Amino acid sequence: MQQESYQTSIDDESPWQQDFELGLFVRAIKKSIGVDLDNYARGSLKRRVRQLLYKQNVNFISELIPKIIYDATFAQFIINELTVNVSALFRNPGVFASLLKNVFPVLASYTRIDIWVAGCACGEEAYSLAILLDEAALLERSQIHATDINVESLYIAGSGLLQRSLDRETAQRYRMAGGCNSLSNYFNGAYKDTRLNERLLKHISFNQHDLTQQEGFTSPQLILCRNVMIYFNQALQDKVLISLYNNLIPNGFLVIGANESLNQSSIATQLLAIDKNNRIYKSIKKRD
Ligand SMILES: C[S@@+](CC[C@H](N)C(=O)[O-])C[C@H]1O[C@@H](n2cnc3c(N)ncnc32)[C@H](O)[C@@H]1O
Repeated sequence: MQQESYQTSIDDESPWQQDFELGLFVRAIKKSIGVDLDNYARGSLKRRVRQLLYKQNVNFISELIPKIIYDATFAQFIINELTVNVSALFRNPGVFASLLKNVFPVLASYTRIDIWVAGCACGEEAYSLAILLDEAALLERSQIHATDINVESLYIAGSGLLQRSLDRETAQRYRMAGGCNSLSNYFNGAYKDTRLNERLLKHISFNQHDLTQQEGFTSPQLILCRNVMIYFNQALQDKVLISLYNNLIPNGFLVIGANESLNQSSIATQLLAIDKNNRIYKSIKKRD
């Protein structure tokens, strides 16, 4: 008699079984490397985990758990796989044009300028800022602190290597952002080996930092945290916003992503919109 074969997978599990396993998975990562995914938006986390199972060629989340608990390198690898590091040079160019108009003149009044790019992916946002600061003759007194939870992205970012070679769309965004030079002046090499010039790269530091667990480490005049909080639930978004706000110097500026909002946040009244469309806010906290 022929034996019937059963190939079961997570798709065959009931929702509560999937949620149960996902809960164990989240706890295992926290135990292994301290990263807490508990307050990440559940829908997108589930989708990413599903893709991960496929890539790892396993059927159930629970199969990954022993390795996550006993192998911190594997747990960090999982974080690198789960995080979405899509970015681009001069992404949403209107934001940069507005920074140039509304924020750079204020930055120019400081002898030392500190900018924190939180959730920097492979460095594109930090590179864009460095270029515009250079054109505004502010780069020499600027330091950009770029952080991310994904060490693989940070490694690429620190090398200056572009994920996409310079194309017409990038040049267009650069112009729309207020760029007034030739973009190729800021990069060496071509095609798949295009890198930001060392002269600009040396003004950017790249460090691992978990926005959900750690305090910031500078008192920047400007923080950009764009397209990171969309992956968090409301409670975590609020916690991170409060932390970013506390890090800013009085009258400092905060920029969030086009699909992010301060509406539900308990610090909404502490931040004045100076360009609502482009999500640029100014802290109105008083100096001590
Ligand atoms: C979609 S990218 C946004 C990149 C860039 N800010 C932009 O807008 O183009 C989101 C980044 O947030 C990072 N990220 C996710 N969770 C994080 C956390 N808890 N702490 C710091 N960075 C995090 C991801 O690794 C990823 O590089």
